[in-house]
Amino acid sequence: MIDTYEIIDHEHDVIVVGAGGAGLRATLGMTAAGLNTACITKVFPTRSHTVAAQGGVGAALGNMNEDSWQWHMYDTVKGADWLGDQDAIEYMCREAAPAVYELEHFGVPFSRTEDGKIYQRPFGGHMRNFGEAPVERACAAADRTGHAILHTLYQQCLKHNAEFFIEYFAIDLIMSEDGACRGVMAWNLADGTIHRFLAHQTLIATGGYGRSYFSATSAHTCTGDGNGMVLRAGLPMEDMEFVQFHPTGIYGAGCLITEGARGEGGYLTNSEGEAFMERYAPSAKDLASRDVVSRAMTIEIRENRGVGAENDHIYLHLEHLGGEVLNHRLPGITETARIFSGVDATKDPIPVLPTVHYNMGGIPTNYHAEVLRPTVKDPDAICPGLMAIGEAACVSVHGANRLGTNSLLDLVVFGRAAAQRAVKIVEKDKKIKSANSKTGEEAIARLDAIRYSKGKEATANVRLDMQKIMQNNAAVFRSSEILKEGVKLIDQSAEGLKDLGVSDRSLIWNSDLVEALELENLMACSKTTIYSAEARQESRGAHAHEDYPDRDDKKWMKHSLAWLDSNMKVKLGYRPVHEYTLTDEVDYIEPRARVY
Ligand code: FUM
Repeated sequence: MIDTYEIIDHEHDVIVVGAGGAGLRATLGMTAAGLNTACITKVFPTRSHTVAAQGGVGAALGNMNEDSWQWHMYDTVKGADWLGDQDAIEYMCREAAPAVYELEHFGVPFSRTEDGKIYQRPFGGHMRNFGEAPVERACAAADRTGHAILHTLYQQCLKHNAEFFIEYFAIDLIMSEDGACRGVMAWNLADGTIHRFLAHQTLIATGGYGRSYFSATSAHTCTGDGNGMVLRAGLPMEDMEFVQFHPTGIYGAGCLITEGARGEGGYLTNSEGEAFMERYAPSAKDLASRDVVSRAMTIEIRENRGVGAENDHIYLHLEHLGGEVLNHRLPGITETARIFSGVDATKDPIPVLPTVHYNMGGIPTNYHAEVLRPTVKDPDAICPGLMAIGEAACVSVHGANRLGTNSLLDLVVFGRAAAQRAVKIVEKDKKIKSANSKTGEEAIARLDAIRYSKGKEATANVRLDMQKIMQNNAAVFRSSEILKEGVKLIDQSAEGLKDLGVSDRSLIWNSDLVEALELENLMACSKTTIYSAEARQESRGAHAHEDYPDRDDKKWMKHSLAWLDSNMKVKLGYRPVHEYTLTDEVDYIEPRARVY
């Protein structure tokens, strides 16, 4: 089949797939260091989902009150419910302040304190002095921090003449027989040409797979494309069962209302007008970790204390903050509340509901962004030629639950780390192997199979079915029965992929074909998520199992691994959590009860 396509060949030192915050930070670092780098992206860079990040990027700058990276590290380990790798967490929290100052120097328009420093606000789970009381650590550009960072990074990339391939859809990785990654095959959505990108290193920065669920704060483009490619290359995903529900998605619409709103003094109430978080988290209250707040809201609704005609949501109050604070600090969400819930936030509470927001799991990597191919003998073995960063990856710094603001931090810290690593390991003048006219044949065969599929199932129907299963069977609370049913249902739903009908055969702006390719990636993520969840018999972070309500460090202090074979059958395995730090400047933080 490959002969029927005209293949356009490219060779680069590094291919970056994805142009969100992580992909752009890596592209910038690699290009500036002289690596011949290409960034391919399915959407225009400044439309990447990083643009939607609101409340801030976490770094212990101490601009408002005393803070330290060691406190940040403690909060991150605790937030992760001890599933995070502490060497990687130490790396991220140490590098946070330099990474944020670097962003400032790149030109990110941060909000300012009266004396001109970067403005910082409190956020969920960020505490002073190892868990004592909330601290201001979220470095904010009003409530549009992701927007500010994304645009600045793109401008910096342009300044360094980075090479972009925009609106190119990555189909599959090019893997050599000895299991190394040699590049990626991609489809130019605008003119229908097929491209073979060969590189010494291929970096996946394609973001999360929030759209596996029915209601998510994620953009419709968050379809786990990199994860799907990596699974098809025979490599596993890690910790997929840990899916974060953000406490404050707008009821019905799912749009994000930043945690920064509670950081500025907002609070939640039930139908009795009670600020109920005091009962669940007496010290941090509304600023407890996200999993804690989302569970509390769900319990309130289940126990019939939800608000609204159907008692099925919760109120977020910002009215008392006054118009000036809302206009100055939270202009974006004030507008979002007006448009998507018809509420004037200066006068009335906003109806909210826990909504899928972030995938803690993803492609396993070390803190240099190198992708792992774990074996029993060597759980930290590396897959040559392949790197991953951002929400697509699992470093693992977020463990079982990510702290708010640590996602933007993850993007810039590990985007930079990936660039530094690539500069070190890429042998610029070495010939790139595996360039023959058949390379990429499997990717083309898969594209063809979908493009010419004549089945009865519409992509949109299979997708909706999958999204509803994920929403119902892998939610805030899970049980053995619900998860078992979920496994069965998702297997049935995946069968629908074999009977897809794609009506448009064109390769030019064919959204029908794009959505079918995206659905394959989403389904791969959904299956590995629900199988991993069904297997984990404990409660930890975002995985709240009603039949196993406690964390079980003896049996379950381990990372899940999930492989997918060519028939989409899931195989599970595990690898140890790194129970050590990066340097001897900090001690390993021993597991303890997680109270806020
Ligand atoms: O609530 C927020 O602004 C989201 C931030 C995050 O997910 O880090």
